[in-house]
Formats: sequence, structure tokens, C-alpha cells
Amino acid sequence: MDYIDLPELLSAQGMVRLPGSKSISNRVLLLAALAEGVTEVRDLLESDDTARMLEALAVLGVGVEALGDHAYRVSGIGGDFPVKQASLFLGNAGTAFRSLTATLALAGGHYTLTGIPRMHERPIGDLVDALRQVGADVTCLEKEGFPPLEIRPAEIRPGGVVKIRGDVSSQFLTGLLMALPLTGVEATIEVVGELISKPYIEITLATMARFGVQVVRDGWQRFVVPAGSVYRSPGVVYVEGDASSASYFLALGAIGKGPLRVKGVGRDSIQGDVRFAEALALMGARVEMGPNWIEASAPVSGALKGVELDCNHIPDAAMTLATAALFADGPTTLKNIASWRVKETDRIAAMANELRKLGADVEEGADYIRIAPRGALLSPVCGIDTYDDHRMAMCFSLASFGAPLRVNEPGCVAKTFPDYFERFAGVTQPVPVIAIDGPSASGKGTIAARVASVLGWHFLDSGALYRLTALAAQRAGVAWSDEAAVAGIAAGLDVEFSGDSIRMGGEEVGEAIRTEEISSGASLVAALPAVRAALLFRQRMFRRAPGLVADGRDMGSVVFPDAGTKIFLTASVEVRAKRRYKQLIDKGMPANIEPILLDLRARDERDSQRSVAPLQQSADANLLDTSDLSIENTVERVLAWSKMAS
Ligand code: DC
Repeated sequence: MDYIDLPELLSAQGMVRLPGSKSISNRVLLLAALAEGVTEVRDLLESDDTARMLEALAVLGVGVEALGDHAYRVSGIGGDFPVKQASLFLGNAGTAFRSLTATLALAGGHYTLTGIPRMHERPIGDLVDALRQVGADVTCLEKEGFPPLEIRPAEIRPGGVVKIRGDVSSQFLTGLLMALPLTGVEATIEVVGELISKPYIEITLATMARFGVQVVRDGWQRFVVPAGSVYRSPGVVYVEGDASSASYFLALGAIGKGPLRVKGVGRDSIQGDVRFAEALALMGARVEMGPNWIEASAPVSGALKGVELDCNHIPDAAMTLATAALFADGPTTLKNIASWRVKETDRIAAMANELRKLGADVEEGADYIRIAPRGALLSPVCGIDTYDDHRMAMCFSLASFGAPLRVNEPGCVAKTFPDYFERFAGVTQPVPVIAIDGPSASGKGTIAARVASVLGWHFLDSGALYRLTALAAQRAGVAWSDEAAVAGIAAGLDVEFSGDSIRMGGEEVGEAIRTEEISSGASLVAALPAVRAALLFRQRMFRRAPGLVADGRDMGSVVFPDAGTKIFLTASVEVRAKRRYKQLIDKGMPANIEPILLDLRARDERDSQRSVAPLQQSADANLLDTSDLSIENTVERVLAWSKMAS
């Protein structure tokens, strides 16, 4: 399984230029395709959903040319697609699927529209019913009311009143609105039931107006598309930044001190999700807004407030409130969010499952979710699941303010924000790490522990985890060479570190893991890739505020590659053998220098020759040879390097 491990964060600030809005991008592409004339679309979102729309338009015979730097030239077809028979695959892109269904149903060709399995579970019956009212021939190929669909040429009876339900997805009304001008005559749409997600209809109307079609709106119940409406290219169209994507960064600023500014949306935006900023302000965040920017900082008191909020107007951005709620001083209730259940996944259920993994108390209902934070967040070893839902992945990145976090299958962000995690890393400050690597008996353990104590930071003796694994395997009667079984033991280790004490299953094992026999066993199990993988996140979980000093073989290269200070600590093998000998004698253990020397040489060889994470000085590590240095001098050098890095 693919995953990304996020370190615990200390703060967030800076500026992010947002990728283009998904909703605006796909609407602009379709209208540019339908329009008379050539449109240059600038700042288009480059993501899975827009890629599906671009592919579909190309299949339908629309001329689309990539100009580079997020710009595209679309040669409009003036309402009549050149290709009359085609099969379109639209992935999980709801915005493309719904709007193309409506458009193609009125276009007079023979088309099939399919998507990924989840797309086939997302309802489309209300739109199909509305299209059938004007004579369109649309067949649900598998299950009535759901994709995949087949559209055949039909006698369209334009004009009159079309009724459409508005309480499942506003994308049905959007599709119908954008398609009806193709009939050329006046048409009236009547919305049945409460219209949800109204701000998305505002985006639709504003985009249609940009292409010359003015819909007359009577409240949110009746929409009249005037006779003779024709889409005409406005020439150049700039796509606004994505207001839903802005929500993650604004929340980061509100949780992590800030100020964090997003550029690309602001007061003048046509996207309803900019009102997320108001919701954040209700939670106590300090929010400022300009024409095309918004900035958020933490409340003066430091802590966000729990709120109760109707989220009908910000259905997508409201998900971000659910994880921001983990950092509030009381429970948060998000109401009127039934549409979450028919999105990329059942978002209410998914959100509840994953928030519970972090230790929050969560209550879910048909159309609401209530989140009550309960003290420190947990770091679930199994990771946070993302359900192939880009917003789940982005929302849960915020939780890393409370604990190190593994996010499974983070690639789903490509739906709307392919480089989200790079941008996220660019504006957040993780807990700092000093990584000290080196061969056996180089004194890393002593130095790392002292540096941690001077700084008041946490300390990770990663070798102890390999030693504990070897001991636990031995006690379970598992051979050190049995990779799968030893990895299982490593994954399930029940250990507790506190000060100098190491407990396994409640028993003190600090001495038991230091014998020469267990040292050899540790070296053997450490060469098994599955064991290293099983211990990776467990090591990263030690990176807690205010900082971590970690010692081992691959701290700087594999476990904490972003460590601000990396040191390769070594000493000649003779000096190391003498140190180990003295250590054993001091502890009253029997010792002999020759076998220690031989054993160290063998272990150096094995640790540096193994295929996974071998011991080697990485290019960005500072070399420190301690053969002739005292412990105090070594500690001073390490502290000086770490000061330079901060
Ligand atoms: O540092 P130590 O002697 O306690 O380590 C015990 C064994 O574990 C040693 O053979 C090297 C291995 N090890 C490793 O492979 N990677 C680490 N990060 C730490 C230790």
C-alpha cells in the first residue's frame, strides 16, 4: 500500500498560490467547447477531473490545444459536436459526468458514458428524469437511476417547463442549465424540493453569463433560459483559484499560528466555498480578506472554539471543519450535509471512521456529524484511510498538528490538487529532528541521549527496537531468519520507553536486550526488509514536540530524511572495541577484547553490506570521528551543528 507519513507540526505560515477551481475549470471547458469562437482558458486546474473533461471533449471532436503554463485554446463547435457516435470514460469526475450527460442528451448523437465503479454508485436519476421530459432518449445500462448511460438521438421537444429535483445534487440542475441553450427556445426549469449547494448554481450562472447567456432566476425555484440564447466565446477566460482547496491552508493557518495567505480567491470570488472563511472566523480564527486573497491566523487565545453550523452553503469546504474541529475546545456539529453521502465516498461515514481512529468522539446521523475532541490525538499504526477521496486525504493532513500521522493512498489528491502534499510541506514547520547515525559502539547512544537531555527533546534509540524484535522473536520461538514471522512480531511489539527503562509486555528488558547474543540477533533481523518496513512508522511516531534526537543506522537516510541536522558519528574499530569492553567490565560482565573486535567487524560488514537501508554516510550528513574526542566535546559539536540548522 502506498502512504505518506506526516510529522507532527509545530506551526504553519506563508503564502500559497491556489490551483484553479475544479468547478469553474470544467464549466468553462464545456461552455468554451459549445460556444461560437475560440476561447483561451488560462489558469486551468490540471487534475484528474479536468483531464477526463479534456479527453471527452477531444473524443467529441472539439479542438483543444495545450499552450503550457495551465493555458488551453479551445475551438468552440457552436453547439454541434462533430462526432456523433462515441464512448466516453469519465472516471470519478462528477462535474464532467453530469454536465456532459445533459449536453449530449440534447445534442442528437449516440453516446455511452461510463466511469469507475464508484461513479456507477452515484445517483443520476433526477437528471435523467428531467432530460426525458424534453424527449431525450437516455437509458441506464445497469441500474435505473445510475450510470453507465446510453444516449440515443431523439426528437427533442424544447420549450415549456422542465421539473428537476434539487435535493440530491446541485450538479443535476447545473447540467440542465448549461445544456438548455442548445435548444434555442425559451425553457423554464422548476426545482422540486429544497435546492442544496446553491453557491454552485451561482458559479454555473456566472460562467454562463461570461459566455453570453443570461438566465433569469426567480428565487431558487424557477430558472428561465431565454429564447435565442447562444454561447459566444468571451476571448480569454481566467479560472479563479479553487476555494475548496483554499480551505485546507486557511485551516492550517488557524490551527498553526499563521498567518497563512492563499492567493487566487478572495472577496470578489464567485465560489461559495470562500464562505468557509466565515465559518473559520466563527471558530475564533482571525481572518482577513482582499479582492483575491484570504489570510487566516490562530485565535488570539490560541484555541479554536467548537461550533454548531448549517453547512448547506459550503458542502465541500465543510469537510475541512470536521478535522479542524479536532483542535477546538468543545464539540462541533456540522448540519445539513446529506449530500456528503453521495460524493466520492460516503463522506459522513468515512469521516466518522477516521476521526474515531484519532481518538475523537463522533456521532453521525443521516445529514449531520458531531465531533468531540478528547485530549491528545492518537497516531493509528494502520494509518488514516482515504477512500479514494481527495478531500479525505487533504482534510486529514491537518490532524498532523496533533500527532505524527500516516495517510494511506495519498495519490487520490490528484483529483483536484496533484501537488497538495508538496505545497503543504512548503508552509508547515514540522517538529525538528537531529539524526545521528553510525556503526556499533561509536557512542551514538550516549551522545544522542545527552543532546536530547540538554535540549529537553525526545530520544529514540532505534537500535533498541531491532533488539526488542530479536528478543521477542527468540521468546516466541521464531527463527531470526523467518522474515514474515519476525516482521509480524515487530509490528505487534508491546513496548514502553520511559527514561532509562524499556518495558516489553510490562517486563523490564533494558538489560536483556544488551547481551551479545541479542546484539547478533538484532543485526540479523535488521537486515530483513519486512522488519524494517514494520518498524518505520513506529520510529516516526517518536517525533513529537518540541524535538527528537534519534540514533541508529538510517535515521538521516530513510527514517527522517528531512532532518535539519544529520550526523554520521564514527570512531576507529579499535577505539570502539575498547569502549564496548570497558562498558561490559563496568557493568560487572565478563569480557574479552578480541572476540568483541571480531564481532564489531562482522557487524559493521553486515550493517553496511545489507541491501536495505545499509549503514553509510549520506552526502548531507556531517562526519564526526570521535576516536580522539571526549563525550563533552562531541555533544558540543552536535549542539553547534543543530543551532546552525535552526
Ligand atoms: O545501535 P545498536 O547496536 O543498538 O543496534 C542494534 C542492531 O540494529 C545493529 O546490528 C544495527 C541495527 N540497526 C539498524 O539496522 N538500523 C537502525 N536504525 C538501528 C539499528
